[in-house]
Amino acid sequence: MVIEETKTSLGSYQKSDTDTFKRLRRLRMTESFRSMVRETELSPNDFIYPLFVVPGKGVRKEVKSMPGVFQLSVDETVKECREVRSLKIPAIILFGIPEHKDEVGSEAYDPNGIVQQAIRAIKKDIPELTVITDVCLCEYTSHGHCGIVRGEEIVNDESIELLAKEALTHAEAGADMVAPSDMFDGRVSAIRRILDENKFLKLPIMSYAAKYASGFYGPFRDAAESTPKFGDRRSHQMDPANSNEALREVEQDILEGADIVMVKPALSYLDVIRRVKDRFSMPTAAYNVSGEYSMIKAAARNGWIDEQRVMMEVLTSIKRAGADLILTYFAKDAARVLKQAA
Ligand code: PBG
Repeated sequence: MVIEETKTSLGSYQKSDTDTFKRLRRLRMTESFRSMVRETELSPNDFIYPLFVVPGKGVRKEVKSMPGVFQLSVDETVKECREVRSLKIPAIILFGIPEHKDEVGSEAYDPNGIVQQAIRAIKKDIPELTVITDVCLCEYTSHGHCGIVRGEEIVNDESIELLAKEALTHAEAGADMVAPSDMFDGRVSAIRRILDENKFLKLPIMSYAAKYASGFYGPFRDAAESTPKFGDRRSHQMDPANSNEALREVEQDILEGADIVMVKPALSYLDVIRRVKDRFSMPTAAYNVSGEYSMIKAAARNGWIDEQRVMMEVLTSIKRAGADLILTYFAKDAARVLKQAA
């Protein structure tokens, strides 16, 4: 007996009194069925692993607020990269902590700066590993801001010239891709121009295109020693309340020549990742940032959640939202899990 007719987007169906014809659980009954209909599958190819390089030799210093993440000297960074490669993760992104910081972040664009040394050492040892560099001044300036500061203001146009210089020294040292993370206006075109003028026509740019002024960067600033000494980053990073503006930021970076666009952080911005992917169909990256990592580590250490399960769920959600690439401190752990399951 028909008890009800329902109209759905797919048409109408008649609900019978027994109502056994539609059972969504059928395809959940075995692992085999579940894997056959699974829509999102993670692979180590999705991951980019962040590394923090410090001066010295034999240095391997755990970051207090990021268990399992280390500041590494160049020699230790190379060892780490061998492990990353053996786990079939295709790429790393380098952050540098310099010997000396100054007002203008000189070591950021020093051809012999810490990141430039690390790039050369890694490319010599593991040429097939893709080396991406974060392009920003905040780790290199004494005040911890991402550019030049005049009075209270973080100035835009002079800063992007320095960022372009920094990107060029990374390219000259052998980087495979540069990733500006500052959020100043016009930096992608400034970098594109200097790269092209210097024959790096084929070197891609991954722009931190929609980067929010987020509380989730706290632990990173311990790792990179880049907490601003005064003020904050709200005059250049985005307001967490906005998503239409994220589309304008991303569009601008594409017009300026970005090859990959990034949304950052990931978890509180899954809607933004989806909108960016749907609107532009660009290779889209998402940064699963330090605070997102540390919260899971902390809860797991308290025995409150199952770390491995939550890690895989979070990474899957970022990919499901539309990210093709995920920058994550979980890259090695997740690659190990995927290897075991294979
Ligand atoms: C800036 C930069 C930051 C992160 C990546 N690049 C910090 C900031 O904007 O303050 C944060 C990454 C993370 O939290 O994991 N160079």
